[in-house]
Amino acid sequence: MGLTDPGKKNSAEDHARRVRDMFARISPSYDRLNHLLSGNSDKRWRRIVVEKLGPQLPAAPRILDVACGTGDLSIALFEKTGARVVGVDFCRPMLELAAQKKPELAFVEGDALQLPFDDALFDAVTIAFGLRNLSSIERGLEELRRVLKPDGRVAILEFSKPVVPGFRSLATAYCTRLVPRIGGMISGSRSAYEYLPDSVSRFPDQETLAAMMRDAGFADVIFQNLTGGIAALHTGRRM
Ligand SMILES: C[S@@+](CC[C@H](N)C(=O)[O-])C[C@H]1O[C@@H](n2cnc3c(N)ncnc32)[C@H](O)[C@@H]1O
Repeated sequence: MGLTDPGKKNSAEDHARRVRDMFARISPSYDRLNHLLSGNSDKRWRRIVVEKLGPQLPAAPRILDVACGTGDLSIALFEKTGARVVGVDFCRPMLELAAQKKPELAFVEGDALQLPFDDALFDAVTIAFGLRNLSSIERGLEELRRVLKPDGRVAILEFSKPVVPGFRSLATAYCTRLVPRIGGMISGSRSAYEYLPDSVSRFPDQETLAAMMRDAGFADVIFQNLTGGIAALHTGRRM
């Protein structure tokens, strides 16, 4: 994306501010609503990320969890692999909740589009339900690649396109009708839970995201549909 274009730069900054403010607003009920709205599937999806990544890691790995939010994936990675995990997010209230849960982990304030880390520092990078929120997916993928060591692994967990047509219309109805109502009632911010289905509908489908990852310089890109494609886990290796 041409971030040098002043119009685009402003709109990227506006987008970032809106997203950051929105997560700050809903942070107190974020975890509870995640588990409630997904029927606890979110926990299982994060567990699958850890199971998939674990065997691909070298000894004493260093992992960066981008857009870590309240830290659930960072913590699962740390607990199951023993890796040194750093979580990064640009929303301080989300990070504060993460740090309360696991004070021994490093949770750092920073922008996924301009990660505050040197090149080639990490053995693996993860991003769960974060890529969709960035003003530029391409730039986000570039940053994930930049901070990875050569041969380092990337894992992207994100909402995707349900693969069975009947199930797809059911999931869409649930996301567009029930989620904003329940999310609005519990978090006090209906707009945040209207943004969720909106951003999911704009996000690339499984094959398109895989192609974007290859374009960004990742090899061995594969994906696994989770819960019929409501979410998908994409993995790859830095070339
Ligand atoms: C839906 S939450 C996901 C949190 C966590 N990864 C999880 O699995 O629950 C999205 C997170 O992305 C963060 N985020 C969005 N855009 C970001 C950016 N440009 N840089 C850093 N964090 C960002 C938000 O602050 C929020 O905490």
